[in-house]
Amino acid sequence: MNVNSQNLSSIRKNKTFNNPERFIEGWYWVLPSQNLRVGDVKAVTILGRELAIYRGKDKRVVTCDAYCPHMGAHLGEGNVKGNELRCFFHHWQFDAEGICVDIPCLDEPLPIKIRTWPTAEKYGLIWIWTGDIPKHPIPSAPELEYKELDFAFGPRIVMNSHPHVVMINAIDIQHFNTVHKLASDIVFEKQELHQNAITFVNTKYDGREALFLNVIRPFYKNAITYSVCYWYGSTGIVTIGTDFLHVHIMFTLRLLEAGKSEAQSLIMIKKRQGIFGWLYNLFVLWLAKTFVKHFIQGDTKVFQTMQFNLKTPIKADQSIMQFINHLERQKPLNWGTWNLARSQNVEIRESREKWRDALSND
Ligand code: FES
Ligand SMILES: [Fe+2]
Repeated sequence: MNVNSQNLSSIRKNKTFNNPERFIEGWYWVLPSQNLRVGDVKAVTILGRELAIYRGKDKRVVTCDAYCPHMGAHLGEGNVKGNELRCFFHHWQFDAEGICVDIPCLDEPLPIKIRTWPTAEKYGLIWIWTGDIPKHPIPSAPELEYKELDFAFGPRIVMNSHPHVVMINAIDIQHFNTVHKLASDIVFEKQELHQNAITFVNTKYDGREALFLNVIRPFYKNAITYSVCYWYGSTGIVTIGTDFLHVHIMFTLRLLEAGKSEAQSLIMIKKRQGIFGWLYNLFVLWLAKTFVKHFIQGDTKVFQTMQFNLKTPIKADQSIMQFINHLERQKPLNWGTWNLARSQNVEIRESREKWRDALSND
């Protein structure tokens, strides 16, 4: 058995990858920070779960389940009172931890709580963790950790393919040439940073075949940088550049119903000092945004119609198979409920046990 057929047989068994009912526990973007001002409350649906999100007086963003535990009014219709959220219907009030702190017609509030979700802000976006306690941070590239950044939003698009399938694009070497007309002699080295993050770093490509790179060649010495860092199977950060300038392009995706995805793109570069540094960054961000738009145009067409099925992998698809296998080892949740998605075998075994217990009790 060769490497490809070994990988292929493991891909056939995948349960999470490209499954329209599943996503991986992690950080997902909700909306741009500037769309939620102090005192605002909004209704949002993320990965099939209905939520209410608000910004209190202390500027902190709180995300909670949508429906009021009293009678089910949507809390997105409520009002922000200081750092708390008051239900629109009978004015029951909940603090930032979701604890009921006031019921107007009772002397004491009842000991009830709405579920809240870990919420944070980064890159001008609000993010939520889809579990109890975040196990890892909001997606970032290794070289960006603890760095101050300038960033600009790129296009936001909806595609008819699962986020996992769209993510593959950044390591699909063959299409660099056929779709984007770029050299495809990239060789990736993969490294798993931890259970939820993996990087693919170019070890070979020197850009000699690309016209644009030949123009700027006198200005750089080392090999062209092209690396991709994936988080939770749904956010990818592409780092691209020469030794004097690295641009980072983030694609962060959420699974919509029926295996579709919604993507937000973001371009980031390290902050530079002074007014000239600021102007330089502004220009680079603008230029990169134009490139990103052009690239996305080439790719989105295929994601509207493709039915992903890697039936015939070749050596050039090896990184794709490594990405799929990495994804299968992460914690899968069900779209809509955010409960742990269990394997069918476990479910069958449990229902057999239930029947056996029921019969033995009779
Ligand atoms: S439904 Fe929310 S207070 Fe009654
Ligand atoms: Fe592409």
